[in-house]
Amino acid sequence: MSAPLDLLAAGRIYCDLVFAGLDAPPAPGREVYAAALTLAAGGGAFITAAHAAALGLRAGLMGILPAAPFDAPVREEAAAQGVEDHTTPAPPGADPQVTAAIVTGGDRAFVTRRPGAALAEPVALPPARHLHIGEAATALDHPRLIGRARAAGMSVSMDCAWDGALFARPGLAEAIAAVDLFLPNAEEAAALAAAGVALAPRIATVVKRGAEGARVQPRGGAPLEAPALPARVVDPTGAGDAFNAGFLAGWLDGRALEDCLHLGLACGAAAVARPGGARGLEGLPTLRKRLPRSGPARAALP
Ligand SMILES: Nc1ncnc2c1ncn2[C@@H]1O[C@H](COP(=O)(O)OP(=O)(O)OP(=O)(O)O)[C@@H](O)[C@H]1O
Ligand SMILES: [Mg+2]
Repeated sequence: MSAPLDLLAAGRIYCDLVFAGLDAPPAPGREVYAAALTLAAGGGAFITAAHAAALGLRAGLMGILPAAPFDAPVREEAAAQGVEDHTTPAPPGADPQVTAAIVTGGDRAFVTRRPGAALAEPVALPPARHLHIGEAATALDHPRLIGRARAAGMSVSMDCAWDGALFARPGLAEAIAAVDLFLPNAEEAAALAAAGVALAPRIATVVKRGAEGARVQPRGGAPLEAPALPARVVDPTGAGDAFNAGFLAGWLDGRALEDCLHLGLACGAAAVARPGGARGLEGLPTLRKRLPRSGPARAALP
């Protein structure tokens, strides 16, 4: 049997169809033409796994692939990025899980089809040190996922990922309380607070604050905050998932939370300066190796 993964990322896997260079803004009743169309693997789990692999971790991806023909580009990209494939084919007759991303001016409009389940049931986890869940909705859809990971000795992290229906779903606070690290962005953290959902993961909540950086709230400890690193923003897509990979690489290296925060910020800043979610990651390995240690290693990995 192969060695355990450092990081297993589980969640919705998309094929992104990115239309760029439009000859006019999209408008009802009009056809506009794009100068370029790129197919790219997408979804938080993939983007975090690809960044983790680029940082030198053994990373794997778990989830249901988009239906054909959109499965092939996703698998090819995962293989090219060094992400181990633990995916499942889409069930017969499923709509492809795709996002059409339309680049207009400096911004993007998205239309997503999210058919069926995120993960195949019963959930079977390959051996890994850590499970990262790409979106909280996946933990709620697969309520045994976190318990299975814990029973297999893994530590667990979870992004929130914006989903209008999520904040009112039962079991959300309990899912957050069951993970070690919870990583929402500022907007998601505000929506959770407005919905009265307690943020009490076992180790820390990490709030990503875009151009303002990020804030770590350790359970029962003093918060840590750091500004974003300067970056020329080309495309912010996936910056939060890139941040997750940096933070988790520090975590899996046994580093102090402050170092994890800095590695997350470095990956986030690198991500906004590149087009696409997980392309052009060749420079990342040095970020992990060169980061000085700010303090003693954490006593033990959970
Ligand atoms: N303008 C910026 N300059 C430098 N770093 C940035 C900038 N915007 C984002 N980042 C980095 O990326 C991290 C994540 O960004 P953000 O808070 O936008 O996450 P997010 O909303 O979850 O992103 P997404 O869901 O699109 O992946 C930030 O914490 C920061 O480190
Ligand atoms: Mg996000």
